Parts: sequence; C-alpha cells; structure tokens
Amino acid sequence: MRRFGTLGLICLLALKALGCDRPELTSGRPAPGDGDTSVPVSPEVVERGGICDDAPPLSIQAHTTDERVAVIAGSMSLTEKVEQMAGFTVGAELFATPDNERLNVRGFKFRDGPRGVRLEDGTATCFPVAVARAASWDLELERRVGAAMGAETRGLGHNLLLAPTVNTLRHPGWGRGQETYGEDPWLLGRMGTASVLGIQEHVPACAKHYAGNNIEDTRMTNNAIIDEQTLRENYTRQFEMIVKESDVACVMAAYNQVNGRYCCENIPLLRDLLKGEWAFDGIVLSDWFAAKSTEESALAGLDVEMPWRQHYANLHHMVTGGQVPESVIDEAVERILRIKFKFGFALLDEPFEGDPAVVESDAHIALAREAARKGMVLLKNDDDLLPLDREGVSRLAVVGRWADEARLGDAGSSDVRPSYAVAPYSGIKNVAGDTVEVLTSRDAAAAADVDVAIVVVALTQEDEGEAIFGGGDRNRLTVSEDQENLVREVASVAPKTIVIIKAGGPITMERFIDHVDAIVMAWYPGMEGGHAMGDLLFGDANFEGRVVQTWAHHADDYPEFGNRLSETEFEYHHGYRHFDYFETEPLYPFGYGLSYTTFEFENLSLPCVAITPAGELLATVEIENTGPLAGVAIPQLYVSFPETGARRPVKQLAGFARVALEPGERREVTIPVRIPDLAYFDTSSGGWVVVEGEYQARVGPHAGDLPLSASFSVAGEGVPVE
Ligand code: BGC
Repeated sequence: MRRFGTLGLICLLALKALGCDRPELTSGRPAPGDGDTSVPVSPEVVERGGICDDAPPLSIQAHTTDERVAVIAGSMSLTEKVEQMAGFTVGAELFATPDNERLNVRGFKFRDGPRGVRLEDGTATCFPVAVARAASWDLELERRVGAAMGAETRGLGHNLLLAPTVNTLRHPGWGRGQETYGEDPWLLGRMGTASVLGIQEHVPACAKHYAGNNIEDTRMTNNAIIDEQTLRENYTRQFEMIVKESDVACVMAAYNQVNGRYCCENIPLLRDLLKGEWAFDGIVLSDWFAAKSTEESALAGLDVEMPWRQHYANLHHMVTGGQVPESVIDEAVERILRIKFKFGFALLDEPFEGDPAVVESDAHIALAREAARKGMVLLKNDDDLLPLDREGVSRLAVVGRWADEARLGDAGSSDVRPSYAVAPYSGIKNVAGDTVEVLTSRDAAAAADVDVAIVVVALTQEDEGEAIFGGGDRNRLTVSEDQENLVREVASVAPKTIVIIKAGGPITMERFIDHVDAIVMAWYPGMEGGHAMGDLLFGDANFEGRVVQTWAHHADDYPEFGNRLSETEFEYHHGYRHFDYFETEPLYPFGYGLSYTTFEFENLSLPCVAITPAGELLATVEIENTGPLAGVAIPQLYVSFPETGARRPVKQLAGFARVALEPGERREVTIPVRIPDLAYFDTSSGGWVVVEGEYQARVGPHAGDLPLSASFSVAGEGVPVE
C-alpha cells in the first residue's frame, strides 16, 4: 500500500511553506482518472528523504487545519475529489465513504443514531429515546448522554454519529416523534445543541433531517408548503441555533420537498440559509437515497451523497462538461477534509482510536438508568397512590402484553440493541424487595387478588417508526383497543390501578383515563427502563419529567396532520401555540408533570431597566418545596409579545430552570432569557426583528399554569423605563 503517510504530509506542508508545492515528479502512483500526474511527492521520495532533505523540520501540529486541507485538496485529481463526495458504488457498504490511500485520507464511517450506537451485529448502550431525555428538561444530562454516545461511536471504530434528530413535532402522529425533542423549536434548539456538544467531544455529530421532515408515510416525496415566517421560526430555527451555538460538523438534508424543491437540491435551504446566512462550515450529507439529481444537488451545496455514489457518479462528467464548476467540488472537498482534520481522523496512518471498554460500561448503563428516571412523567396520581409504600403493599401485579418484554422503540435507523434490556415486570420486582410479592400475566389474571395492579400499555414498531422498517405514522393516537379493554378489565378487579405507557408521544385516553388511579408516561425508556420505573414507583426517586408536547383530550384537537397528502401545508400555529390560538383546553399542557412533592412559586422579579435587543434578561423567582419529599421543580418562563400587527404566538417558551429542593426549602432561582430568542422573522425585511416595547413574562410549573406575571421592556442601549 502506497501512501504519503504523516511524514509525506509534513513534507507537503514544508514544500508549500517553501513556495514549491507542485514539483515535477515521475515516481509514485499517479492520481487516478484524469491523467493528472502532478502528484507532488511520492512515498519513495519521502522515505528516501530525497526531496524533503532541504525542508526545515516541521511539526504537523504547527499548521492550521486550513493549510493541511489546502495541501491535500490541492493534490487531488478531479476523480479523487468527487470520490470523497459519496459513499461506495451501488450495492456496497451503506455507512461509509472511501479512503484515499494514495493521499492517506481516511473515509467516513457513519453510525446511527439518536438513542445510542446502532450496529448491525453487536451491542451498545441503549439510552431512552430522545423525547424521553427532552422530558427531563436537563441540558447537562443531554450533553452527558451525547458524550457517552460519541465515546461509544469512537470506541466501536466509527467516526461520525448520525444524531441528533431535531425535527419539530408538528403533530403527535409523526412516526418518528420518539427520535426528536418535542414540539417547541426553541427547546429543540437547546436540547440539540447540548447533544451535539456532547457527541462532538469524541466524534462529529449530524443534525438531521433538514428541513420540514415531519411526516413519515410520504417522506420520500411529500412537499411541505411552509411560508417563510413559519419555516424560519418553527422548522429551521433549531438548526440555526445548533449551527451557531454548537459548531455542528454535519447537517443531513431530508427526503421531502420544501416549497416545491427536494431538500437535497434546495438552494434556499442549503446554499442561501445554511451555508450562506448561518455561515455553516461543515458538510451537508444527503439522507440515505434522498438525493435526486447531480447538477442541482451539487449546485445547491449537497457535499456528500449517501449511501452510494448514484447521482454523484455523474459529477466528474458534469464538471468536465461545464455544467458544474470545479469550484463547487473544491468547496465540498475542503469542507469534508476540514471536518476530518478537525476531529483528528483525516490521515490513515494516524490512529483514530477510542476506548472499546466504554461500550455498555457501568458508567453508561448507570447514565441510561438516570436518564430514564429523569424523563418519565407522572401524569395522574389520584389520592397520592404513588409512591407505593413497601410496607403497605404486599401483592402487586404487573400485567399486559408488554409487562414482561422491554420496548425500546422503533425498528428503524435508531434501533439500538443492548446486550440486555430490563422489562417493567423484572425491573419493578428487582426494586420492590423481598416484602412485596410481584406477579405478572399478559391478561388480567394476575390482577385478581392484589393490592395494586400496574397495566403496561405500549405502542409497537408497527404502530410508529420509520416506514421502511414497518412503522410509519400513527393511524390513531390511542393504544390498541385490546390494551384499552385490558386496562378497564384490570381496573374493575384491582383495588388500585396504575397505567404505564410506553410510546413515543402523546396518547389519547378517553376510554380509560377516568377508570384508573395513576398514569405514568415512560416513553421508550432504554435498556434500564424497568429499573427506573421501579425506582420511581417505590419513591426511591421522585418524578422530574415534564411533557414536551401538548396532550389533547381528543385527536381532533390537534391541527390536521395531512400525512396522506402529496402536499401538506404547515400552519403557523402548532403544539401549544395552536391550543392557545384556538383556545382549546389540553388534557396535559406542554411542560406538565407531577411530582411526589408540591412547589409554590412566588415573587417573580424582572430588572426595572429596559433590556437591549441583544441583551439577556435575568428573571428571578422564589420557589418553595411545600410537600413532604425532596424534589425537582422546573419553573418555565413564557413570553407574550407587544402588539405590532405581526403574526406571533399567544405565548412562547423563552426560559426555564431546574432546581432540586429539600422539603421546606425555599430558593431564589434565576431564569435567563436571551432577548434575541424573542425575535420574529419579518418577511418584509427578510430578517429577525426584536420588537421594542413591553413584553409580558409569565412563570409557573407548565404552559397551562403560569400564576406569576410581570412585564419588561426591550429598547435600545440601556434606556431606563419611565
Ligand atoms: C433515516 C436517517 C438515517 C439514515 C441512515 C434514513 O432512513 O431517515 O435518519 O440516519 O437512514 O440509517
């Protein structure tokens, strides 16, 4: 195998520094394809020390990434350059791009996905799905989970993780709702940023799927019609935040069309917005088989076609034929090389090693349990049935089709296989201890003679998930009728009934909600989910989770989904904005979740001078734990805007905090609000505008209960309020 080697690159850099970067050499392997023989240095020459003898001693570290990129890119033939811009040939490996051995350049080795590292053969830590982690409202936790996934990716020998998914949950019927962080674009941006920062401690991350990928059944062709303000505020906002706040290495262009153009060839989305306005300097990758064209995609700024070289097989030809300028290819190659150098895996002869021991390590498994615990949401708890008292419960049943089988999520690209997964029955039994007898059955049999019965209901991978793997969008927002019947049957025989739901998003529960005493949303809680349930049900830990979607009484309380249409109009108001706008009462408002303790919110205080449009407001609020147990309060701050005639939501999440309080403890908590986050997209000026004037801040435990309110002003530099 002939390569430049690190030494070769050092020599190239030295030559460059000496102004002699294109020496005429006849030995060495020529660049393939073009008859381009201007290869500057051969391995033999380097090894002999020949041409480098005159070069001053140089360390590769002494050169900037841009210099290294320029040297390698400048040495590539056109054939080699376009080879960097796609996977292998049709039918080959699906998750990699080729090495370039001649120039010592390593290819990408990708892995999915948002709940851990997905392997075809092999195991990795399976974390709770992203929506469960979002429900923790814990940015630091999400960073740690990202770091763990990044470390496992690297430990397993891969160099780019295809996560996080940050598409806005426009409708709870979306089959991939489990993979994302809920309905609020701002929270999506914050969570996505935290995830990327964690992943990128080890490998590049990829924010996906850009943009408007909010329907599964017709994702390959659907044309999302989104007016500019809606697009910028609700569907690309989180990508903008992630690009600007985390320096994400990669963005994946989605399958669907936005306003009549496929995302992979969408000039307004890729060229103008992402690479232009936001100055994104990483790579744009196609979703798998999402590219539809050669010329249009290349011109729009699609840097890498995946999984195979299909359309980009014509790229060389298009360049020599003059349809695609070579500068477009150079730009893509430079971006690709820059990421590889930045993350330290550009050169084949420089080892890029991770620690395989981190995969399913005790620390990662403990993190999976912590994340599961923090994300589960207590939705209903009549007469404080929970937490269960080990002294007061002698027999407990855990029943249902999914009581004794862990549900980890869909079977699509985010499917992670851990070496074990704790099902609800075994997890609850393990945590219950010796004094509680725990029984199980798939039907209601075990519930006949117990103190408390728990019914586990779940959606399956056929109910929701990536369509090509059998899932697709949800056909209904309920669990299956037989599971609803089981809940009612159990509730009619057991003295007390708890329902545990495993699903990727809101469930409507009209048929059983009034028949049961407690309801827990467990999401798909990962490999340690069963233990986390036990921890919470017995009060070894308190519930901290708050839902990140609006839960409706009835399916038709949501806006129309439109997932069977070839063209779908995305309305301005979705999620809690839709419920606010139409004054519809939700079942569980955005941000809702109970705790085993109670909190009192008092004394919201805002600064009495106007904040500048670029400033940050530090709101403070006093919170007291007024209940019997330690717990975590998550005060949320929503803002309403000055009336200007511009279209705005009734209110918008703009800040939150997390605070752990002992019983009786009272603390002043600061909630930072970044004023630029309050901007709206003004289509007439084509930019973000922070309106000057008086804003209303409201704070409380969730979007439907905001007892504290105060106003603040936004105006030019430090203008005092009259
Ligand atoms: C999914 C992506 C995923 C890719 C590679 C596609 O079907 O939409 O999220 O990264 O496959 O597995």
